[in-house]
Amino acid sequence: MSVTSVRALPELRGRGEGTPGLRPGREAMPELRERRRELHSRIVEGRSEAVDRQHELGKRTARERLGLLLDEGSFTEIEMYRRHRHAHGLKANGTRPHTDGVVAGSGTIEGRRVFVYAQDFAIFGGSLGEAHAAKIHKTMDLALSTGCPLIGLNDGGGARIQEGVVALDGYGGIFRRNVAASGVIPQISVVLGPCAGGAAYSPALCDFTFMVTGTAQMYLTGPDVVAAVTGEQVTHEELGGADVHGERSGVATFVYDDEESCLADVRYLISMLPANNLDPPPGAPSRGATADERPRLAEIVPHEPNKPYDMRWVVAELVDDGEFLELHENWARNVICALARIDGDVVGIVGNQPTVLAGALDSAASQKAARFVRFCDAFGISLVTLVDVPGFLPGTDQEYGGIIRHGAKLMYAYCEATVPRIQVIVRKAYGGAYIVMDSRSIGADLSLAWPTNEIAVMGAEAAVNVIFRKELATTSDSDRLRSELVCEYVDKLVHPYYAAELGLVDDVIDPVHTRSAIASGLAMLRGKRKAPPHRKHGNVPL
Ligand code: HXC
Repeated sequence: MSVTSVRALPELRGRGEGTPGLRPGREAMPELRERRRELHSRIVEGRSEAVDRQHELGKRTARERLGLLLDEGSFTEIEMYRRHRHAHGLKANGTRPHTDGVVAGSGTIEGRRVFVYAQDFAIFGGSLGEAHAAKIHKTMDLALSTGCPLIGLNDGGGARIQEGVVALDGYGGIFRRNVAASGVIPQISVVLGPCAGGAAYSPALCDFTFMVTGTAQMYLTGPDVVAAVTGEQVTHEELGGADVHGERSGVATFVYDDEESCLADVRYLISMLPANNLDPPPGAPSRGATADERPRLAEIVPHEPNKPYDMRWVVAELVDDGEFLELHENWARNVICALARIDGDVVGIVGNQPTVLAGALDSAASQKAARFVRFCDAFGISLVTLVDVPGFLPGTDQEYGGIIRHGAKLMYAYCEATVPRIQVIVRKAYGGAYIVMDSRSIGADLSLAWPTNEIAVMGAEAAVNVIFRKELATTSDSDRLRSELVCEYVDKLVHPYYAAELGLVDDVIDPVHTRSAIASGLAMLRGKRKAPPHRKHGNVPL
């Protein structure tokens, strides 16, 4: 084998000279420079009326947003020259602007590579035509083939009406890629303006959706169509504003007051996510948490089983720097889902929230937690489940709404999860809700309980009323008998040592040691490997 040095190559000077149709190498450079300069002034620096309008609405341009999102100077743009090829007399005087209304490419966030596209509302209202879609497809393909997160900044009017079915085909291509990339790379949608019609399905298929109050709206059919079909009069904001999706529909994972804080949190989220499903989540130095004591934990949680307290205070004591990113903060608030670090390891935390519906699980909470558990499992993020649950929420509203089906989603998600799983029973865990909140029986690797725990099929009073119905009905002093039986039931069955004797709880711990016990558990489980049986896919109860 020989090594060829550049000095040994034939003389390059003059290549192309004399070849008809080929311009000599350096002579093409002025034209390139001129084209780039013109493109830059028109697309990058150009300030059209539409850009001014964008600013007046409190919105930033696509490139300004990329400047906020990515590390300075890290953006590499693809297909800047691309434009549509349709002779359909688009309203903008038949113009064919470069970029076709979407800025696409790749950059870094804290030095880690991401792929990104940003719709440019200043061009054709950010609507999606053939060329626009093709650029997004290419960005998605590159993100998937290189194993990097994908971030889409959405601000557009949906399918470009003038391009007809081609625009619909473009959306189909995005959805197909969203699904192919699901569970392989993290996918983040940021909605910063209208996201109408088909555009709304891509955020719905992504792992996380960010929205900004007042400027972002998502809906399948706009207010005019709603009025025409149903007679209902609603504004854009009432129909699909950030608060609607952050509090009622659960479509938005995060809601912000302005674009700056929104994009700053996209950066924060990325700092906790692995690039893809084969890479581990980014590590951080150990904080020596295995020897950490947290005395406040014993004060936060009241001994009385029904007294409310905010589980987020417990979370704050358990995680590094008291810092966590809560998903769906204002939707299904009876369950908490958060990403954080414990002793440097990224964890997904699921916790019942006793301040809302006493922490009972309902349909929305089950869906919220199930999707989060599946995300963490897909991306190798360990799960810590904080349990304080009186049961599933009773009532016709829940039963008619399919609580059985929705609760089954959470059950399915946990049963299927192969990442390290630690359950901490903080105060009480009753019935089916005990099982579904990552009990040992459905696969938790480690179950820890505080000494004041109540773990049982149901509360003592209700249990005695069922088991001793006949005796209580026939005795003259039913109150005395009932209280004796309740005490006996509590002594024998409800305390955590009963569960510990049966191996359903691994250890009963002092609350102040909870952070150290979780950190030790995570260290113990770090090498966990579990291969699911081969199958095409399970049939999750959607
Ligand atoms: C082509 C569009 C467009 C669209 C907006 N524009 N939406 N051009 N196709 N879908 C253009 C406008 O003509 C205008 O061009 C410019 O963008 C800015 O729009 P305005 O209406 O002036 O802005 P604004 O008042 O802020 O309203 C924004 C809007 C509204 C709410 C998005 O434009 C709107 O309702 N657009 C239609 C939304 C929609 O119904 N899309 C189709 C969805 S159906 P000029 O030249 O005047 O500046 C769909 C099917 C896919 O997506 C289904 C797959 C499952």
